[in-house]
Amino acid sequence: MTTLIDGKEVAASIIEQVKAASATLEAETGVKTGLGVVIVGDDPASHAYVGAKSRMAKDCGFNSVQHTLPAETTQDQLAGLVAQMNADTSLHGILVQLPLPKPLSSEPIIQSILPEKDVDGLHVVNAGKLATGDLESGLVSCTPAGAMILARRIRGNDLSGLHAVVIGRSNLFGKPMAQLLLNANATVTIAHSRTKDLPAVCRTADILVAAVGRAEMVKADWVKPGATVIDVGINRVPAPEKGEGKSRLLGDVDFGAVRDVAGAITPVPGGVGPMTIAMLMANTVIAAYRKAGKTPPVFI
Ligand code: GUN
Repeated sequence: MTTLIDGKEVAASIIEQVKAASATLEAETGVKTGLGVVIVGDDPASHAYVGAKSRMAKDCGFNSVQHTLPAETTQDQLAGLVAQMNADTSLHGILVQLPLPKPLSSEPIIQSILPEKDVDGLHVVNAGKLATGDLESGLVSCTPAGAMILARRIRGNDLSGLHAVVIGRSNLFGKPMAQLLLNANATVTIAHSRTKDLPAVCRTADILVAAVGRAEMVKADWVKPGATVIDVGINRVPAPEKGEGKSRLLGDVDFGAVRDVAGAITPVPGGVGPMTIAMLMANTVIAAYRKAGKTPPVFI
């Protein structure tokens, strides 16, 4: 029997843990966890994501602050806002929604966020801590952190002896995911668009993580029977059968066929997606605990 990994259910359990943690921190220290989110421009998908993040932060009992800036915002104005949020002691986490509209440059903005408030885990200090195996004092990028929790729910905490293949080498996902798997003692391969015979490499995976951005690219004959398959893809494709102009979400994995081969698989939607926002809340309360000089809980 293939296990369907319910990301919504796991995310809801993480959110319950976050609510309890933020309530405990406030009761013990008077500190209310604070998250500041910045969105620039009017991309509808980005607005939908940011709205969901801000609402969830409120739901968790946080001080939730959203800055909505026009597309004409200059680099200096955005940098000034980040500097102001860095200095604001009521905010423990800062997130600048990506991508930024042209001609704004995201990298200097991300690197100007204080590492201890970088709840996206994108600052080089946090990436470096993960790369050196320091999971105690850094902040881990939310989507890989969430994908890792789902993999662990199936395979346990120690992945010794298991081969994990991550398809995709981005700084946002592929690289941090590989580091997390390595930290859990898996043998890790990072595959990408230049990998020779990608299907054959994937067939050796006990844990296969797909983050390529191409709908249904991973086929059933790419998957070892019994493998744990984590699908990070979110591909919006036209769905004329649902009506004119309608669309639907597909993962990077051919779910309908792969579900018969895999031992466990995440659906899209409802797999990794809900975990990202849950881990953002977890990172924010972790940052607040550290700022208050308290040991944060471990979210699993
Ligand atoms: N845009 C899409 N995903 C993300 C994310 O995880 N963090 C930020 N900052 N922007 C995003």
